[in-house]
Amino acid sequence: MKILFLAAEAEPFVKIGGLADVAGSLPLALRALPAQTAAGVPLDVRLVLPLHQSVRVDTATLRLVAEFSVWRDGFSVPVKVFETSLDGMPVYFISGAPISSTPTVYSPDPAQDREKYAFFSIAALELTHHLGWEPDIIHANDWHTSFALYAVQSRQIVRPSQHPRTVLTVHNLAYLGGDSSDVLSAYGLMPFSDHSLPKWAQSQPLPLGLWSANAIVPVSPTYAREILTPDFGCGLDLYLKTRVKSLTGILNGLDVNFWDPARDKTLAACFDAGQLPARLVNKTALQKTLVLKQDGNVPLLVMVGRVDYQKGLDIAFESLRRLVGQNWQFVILGSGDPALEETARSLQSEFPERVRAVIRYDSDLSHLLYGGADMFLMPSRYEPCGLAQMIAMRYGCVPVVHSTGGLKDTVQEGKTGFLFQDSDPVSMEAALVRALALFAEPDQWQKFQRNDMQEDFSWPRSAGQYASIYSSLLSES
Ligand code: GLC
Repeated sequence: MKILFLAAEAEPFVKIGGLADVAGSLPLALRALPAQTAAGVPLDVRLVLPLHQSVRVDTATLRLVAEFSVWRDGFSVPVKVFETSLDGMPVYFISGAPISSTPTVYSPDPAQDREKYAFFSIAALELTHHLGWEPDIIHANDWHTSFALYAVQSRQIVRPSQHPRTVLTVHNLAYLGGDSSDVLSAYGLMPFSDHSLPKWAQSQPLPLGLWSANAIVPVSPTYAREILTPDFGCGLDLYLKTRVKSLTGILNGLDVNFWDPARDKTLAACFDAGQLPARLVNKTALQKTLVLKQDGNVPLLVMVGRVDYQKGLDIAFESLRRLVGQNWQFVILGSGDPALEETARSLQSEFPERVRAVIRYDSDLSHLLYGGADMFLMPSRYEPCGLAQMIAMRYGCVPVVHSTGGLKDTVQEGKTGFLFQDSDPVSMEAALVRALALFAEPDQWQKFQRNDMQEDFSWPRSAGQYASIYSSLLSES
């Protein structure tokens, strides 16, 4: 079975967000499935990525494997494709003017991104003909590569002999891609002619991708249900309800070899579930680096990740203000929306003794926070899957999370963490009060930490679910 996996970003080559973690590990996990799980045959999954300016790859390992052009408005745009290998998997990098002319993976100008990803998607499909490798499945991710599914479904670009089946993983429904009428027509894709999608959605890549995909996979079972409601459906809930038979939520996995507190060299002290006191070395190192009072008994609460409205920082800040009478320290690490970054800095000015706002991307510090902090806060307004809570659990950092999407599917109240129902400071405060009370009972607290560290978030189970979707699609066709 041949699968072409398309994504805008993938570790270890280029990473902006959670999509890169998935696109860098799911294809490998699929290839590693034992043949009997993988629909009876090994899966020949190959990854295709844009050759962004910021891609990290040793150019000496890149081999030119195809050179062709795609048509745009009557002109031909040259394409060069380079191949490298990731743990034995072929990885193709597409290059061409619409990709190399923008310095970043995602541009502040949405029109530039639509041009870039439409070009990338079309060129990726063309590539398969030049390689003489015709995929059975085209697997796209989010709006960027949805153009490819629309091209396949409208029987354009792909040769008539070929009838690949299509899968779309939805990492974040809120990013629809915007009105793309001009690029769709420039790349020769027919205007949408069905009435099933709402009018405003008919020229946007993600809705077109949803319409085209034979299988739609949101990144957790709860998110798959949430997007059928007006609160989370981004205007597409009624359409998605007509597609429930093709909709399956699959929780993302975690690269448990990379995220392993027993072998993590960036920690001050490595540890496993049987050596929880060693975490104190990491906590002390953090308090020292961040110039906070060095005291193991003060609960250390942290947030790590993109500074974005979706992540509910404002909710966390307000709930902490309400808990001013309790003893805690709080660290936030991340960057993003400048206005929210400013609110984080002002929280530190308000509580200079116990809050640190570290506004930057800092991978080493993030590992130390996972391995040394006591509680991991994720008050996300919505969270399709979320990776940080899984990492935190693996490192014995107890999660306090909004009960939504993948957070709800990975954290269990009373066993591995604390959940709050409503996306507001009062609801979060109540969960923090429960967590702080439990922290005061070290035996109970360590039980939670051990439960967290014993959860299995590794990829094989999720990859097996994707493989069964592939095989059922092929047996239908
Ligand atoms: C997006 C979602 C996040 C998910 C990630 C990978 O970044 O916001 O919840 O974990 O994609 O699927």
